[in-house]
Amino acid sequence: MLKFSDFLLCSAVLCLCPCRISLKKGLSIRDQMRAAGVLDDFLKHIKYDSVKKYQPSQGSVVREPIANHLDSSYFGEISIGEPPQKFLVLFDTGSSNLWVPSMDCKSPACFNHAKFQPSASATFTPRGQSYNVSYGSGSVTIVLGSDTLRIQSITVTQQELGLSQEEPTQPFYFAAFDGILGMAFPSLAVGGMATALGGMLEQNQLAEPVFSFYFSRQPTYDYGGELLLGGVDPQLFQGDITWAPVTQRLYWQVALEEVAIGQSATGWCSQGCQAIVDTGTFLLTVPQEYIENILEALGAQETSYGYAVDCSDTQSMPQLTFGIGGARLALPPSAYVLNSNGYCTLAIEATYLPSQDGQPLWILGNVFLKEFYTVFDMANNRVGFAPSA
Ligand SMILES: *[C@@H]1O[C@H](CO)[C@@H](O)[C@H](O)[C@H]1NC(C)=O
Repeated sequence: MLKFSDFLLCSAVLCLCPCRISLKKGLSIRDQMRAAGVLDDFLKHIKYDSVKKYQPSQGSVVREPIANHLDSSYFGEISIGEPPQKFLVLFDTGSSNLWVPSMDCKSPACFNHAKFQPSASATFTPRGQSYNVSYGSGSVTIVLGSDTLRIQSITVTQQELGLSQEEPTQPFYFAAFDGILGMAFPSLAVGGMATALGGMLEQNQLAEPVFSFYFSRQPTYDYGGELLLGGVDPQLFQGDITWAPVTQRLYWQVALEEVAIGQSATGWCSQGCQAIVDTGTFLLTVPQEYIENILEALGAQETSYGYAVDCSDTQSMPQLTFGIGGARLALPPSAYVLNSNGYCTLAIEATYLPSQDGQPLWILGNVFLKEFYTVFDMANNRVGFAPSA
C-alpha cells in the first residue's frame, strides 16, 4: 500500500545528510547515537549516515510470522492496549502511519474486521487530532490516540496510532488484514505521527536498527514468510547482500541503474530511474511509458482480466533484470507470470504514482520481493537485497 506523498519534490533537507558518526569501542550504536545527540533526530527525521558496524544492545531480534491470503497480501499479528486487543496488519514499507479500525467506524470495511475498543484498554490515551491518510487505492480517516503496541516480545508503550473512523470499501472490505503498520520514513507519516519503528528504537526494543523481510515463493495462509525485527536471518537468503543507498528518505527508494529484458538492455534508465521497495504492493509496477514495450517484448495481450500470456510460453519467456547497487537482480518468468487455473497473466501493472524528480519510477512489490530477501537498514539508510533461500 503506497502512501501518496505530499512531498513530491525532494527538499535538500530530506535528501542530503552531511552527518557522520564515528564509532567508539564498547558502546552500543544506540548509546553512541545518544551520546552524539543524533537518536532523537533520527526518530523524527532519520538524518544520519555511516554507522557501519552494529553492536548488540539490550534490544532483541524478533521473528514475526507473515501470513498470506490468496497469494496477494501478506500480513501479521500485533496487539494494542492493556489487556492486548489483537489485529492483523499489513507490514507496509510504502507508508509510515500505524492504524487499526475503531469501534466508532461505521464503514462496511470495519464491520468485518477486528475493531479497537479504547474503553477496554487501561492504557489508552486519546489525542484528538484527525487526519486523512491516502493510499493509491483510497483514503482512510483516522483519529489519533496512543497505547501499548506489542509485536511478539516487542513492547512499545504510549505508541502513537490512528483509529480509523472511515475506510473505503475498496480495498479494505476485502482485505484479510485489519489495519496497516507503516514502515517507511517518519517524514512520510501523515500528521507527523510517530512511527512504530521510531517507538521501537526509542524504547530500545531492537537489537539493531534494521528489519528484514522474507516472502515465500509458495505462500500459504499458515506460512507466507517472515519479518525479522532487529536483525537479518542468513538462513533465508543465499550469497551476499547487495546494498543500495536510499535516494529519498520518504519511501525506501533506491536508484535503478538499468532494466534488461532477456539479454537486451532497454536503455530506459540511461537518465536514471528510481525504484520504491514496497512490501504493501503485490505487483511489479512499471512506469506507464514502458508498459507497451514490456507487453510487446513478453508477447502479452491486454485483456479485461489483465495482461494475458500463453501459459505454455512461460518457460521460454525472458528474464527481467534490474540493475541495483551495481548488481543484476533477475526475475525469471516463474516470478512475474501468475497462473490462475490455467489462465496466465503478467504480475505487472502500470504505475499510479507520479515520478518525483522526472526519473521513471518503478515499484518493487511482493512479486519482486519473493525472489529477493530484503534488508531495511535504518542506521545507514540503505536497502540490501540477496537471492531468497
Ligand atoms: C477528510 O476528507 C473528507 C472528504 O474529502 C473531508 O470532508 C474531511 O474534512 C477530511 N478530514 C480531515 C481531517 O482532513
